[in-house]
Amino acid sequence: MSKVTVIEHPLIHHKMAILRDKHTGSKSFREVVNELALLVAYEVTRDFPLVETEIETPITTGTFKVLANEKVAVIPVLRAGLGMVDGILSIIPNAKLGHIGLYRNHDTLLPTEYYCKLPDDIAERVCIIMDPMLATGNTTNEAIRMVKERGGKDIRFVCLLAAPQGIEAVHREHPDVDIYIANVDGKLNEHGYIVPGLGDAGDRLFGTK
Ligand code: URA
Repeated sequence: MSKVTVIEHPLIHHKMAILRDKHTGSKSFREVVNELALLVAYEVTRDFPLVETEIETPITTGTFKVLANEKVAVIPVLRAGLGMVDGILSIIPNAKLGHIGLYRNHDTLLPTEYYCKLPDDIAERVCIIMDPMLATGNTTNEAIRMVKERGGKDIRFVCLLAAPQGIEAVHREHPDVDIYIANVDGKLNEHGYIVPGLGDAGDRLFGTK
């Protein structure tokens, strides 16, 4: 069974409050989204395996732990997920990048694929799918399904703000996927926005609307 991790940390609360503030402009919003992505990535990588290696310090030689060459794919869901890429790459610089594009079909109202490009060796990588908002869970579930269909096995989902029904929906459909969240809010409104939320993450990141 997967785990749902809501990261409790003063820096995360503080930075999330900056994102929520409607007076925060796009430049600050982008910077803080990246900072939060970095902080969440710290938790996502907590179980990465280590190996012992011999290192010569300026004083002596010792055996120390380094990452066991874990292969990672960072996969933002377009477009808001792009806002988290630089933050994650700043601590996992050797990750490869994939991209997933989904639009909402006007008839079915379901997320529908329009773009998917993932690293060829996706089956061997820890796949970190990113989207700042987990609202109904429909988009996230479809993004995870697309990665699984192309061979992804170790899949983790990272978001900044989630609604309980979104967490529940992803957990139900993909019980093998661990979910990492900065903050959880109470509910969705009739337009599918998280309340109290932070508005439309894509618009606020890119200054559209
Ligand atoms: N997507 C957003 O950008 N904001 C929400 O509140 C919900 C989904």
